[in-house]
Amino acid sequence: MFKTKTTLLCFLLVAVIFMDPSSSTATDNYIYAICSPAKFSPASSYETNLNSLLSSFVSSTVLRRYENFTVPNGSGMKQERGVTVYGLFQCRGDLDPTSCSTCVSSAVAQVRTLCSYSYSGYLQMDSCIVRYDNVSFFGVEDKTLNLKKCGQVIGFDDQYALTRVNDVISSLGSGGGAYRTGGNGDIQGVAQCTEDLSSSQCQDCLSDAIERLRSDCGMAQGGYVYLSKCYARFSFGGSHARQTPPYYSTPNFEGKKDNKDDKSVQKTLAIIIGIVTLIILLVVFLAFIGKQCRKLQDDKCCK
Ligand SMILES: *[C@@H]1O[C@H](CO)[C@@H](O)[C@H](O)[C@H]1NC(C)=O
Ligand SMILES: *[C@@H]1O[C@H](CO)[C@@H](O)[C@H](O)[C@H]1NC(C)=O
Ligand SMILES: *[C@@H]1O[C@H](CO)[C@@H](O)[C@H](O)[C@H]1NC(C)=O
Repeated sequence: MFKTKTTLLCFLLVAVIFMDPSSSTATDNYIYAICSPAKFSPASSYETNLNSLLSSFVSSTVLRRYENFTVPNGSGMKQERGVTVYGLFQCRGDLDPTSCSTCVSSAVAQVRTLCSYSYSGYLQMDSCIVRYDNVSFFGVEDKTLNLKKCGQVIGFDDQYALTRVNDVISSLGSGGGAYRTGGNGDIQGVAQCTEDLSSSQCQDCLSDAIERLRSDCGMAQGGYVYLSKCYARFSFGGSHARQTPPYYSTPNFEGKKDNKDDKSVQKTLAIIIGIVTLIILLVVFLAFIGKQCRKLQDDKCCK
């Protein structure tokens, strides 16, 4: 019996370990990337300037969550079309410098690979963005829809959940500023615009994103709307925004795979381990029954 108990305990432990979705890197999840099809030539001045821009991103995260750059800069430098690079990075409003730096480093590494030699690159992570172009986009409002997705539909019978979703989306709309959060129970929302926008441009962009989120995903268990200069999203469960909604794992984004593979490997492993453990338990159980039966038979025969 002792053996059976130990096996059962092992099974439970393993199940707990393997069922836990790897949440440690949740803040660094890749969402989407956009690269210009037009490419610059290798070893050009544009490449040199772009490299210098991308390295300034990472070193600046220590001081700020948002920064825009023009390379080359300075009064003596004239800006040339096709040579000058404009870029910015931004971290989610609640990120500490270490997490911001980690996220931006990862985004820079990925944008280098995904958008190699593209004149413009834009990469959105769960908690930061990096973007560069050969024309200045600073202070230019742009409400182009880059990505939208809604989670599973909430049943009409769950009025409580529907009300809370509505509350969270409304609270994002009513807050001021470039970074907004809202929450109700286990539902958490976050909205942010890039800080190159004026406050009225930011408000305008966020209103659009939030209205879209409400009309398209207002009856869903989570959703996101990413416009070119701002986004709004909400999810069920966990601490706000930091928690990646599970449907981020669906692989239908262009560019690069996210960590869905890791998760499905973990799930498969958990299932295999579960089945193996069940078989072991069954064998132990049958052996035990068999022993009892044999004992019974022995008792009978030797009477
Ligand atoms: C120019 O860029 C460099 C590095 O990219 C930076 O250290 C410097 O502060 C910038 N100067 C101005 C005037 O923005
Ligand atoms: C700027 O980039 C675009 C693609 O985003 C490209 O078509 C254009 O040729 C570039 N302009 C110059 C002057 O290099
Ligand atoms: C940053 O963006 C603002 C406009 O939002 C612009 O006036 C400023 O020159 C930019 N700074 C750099 C270093 O490019």
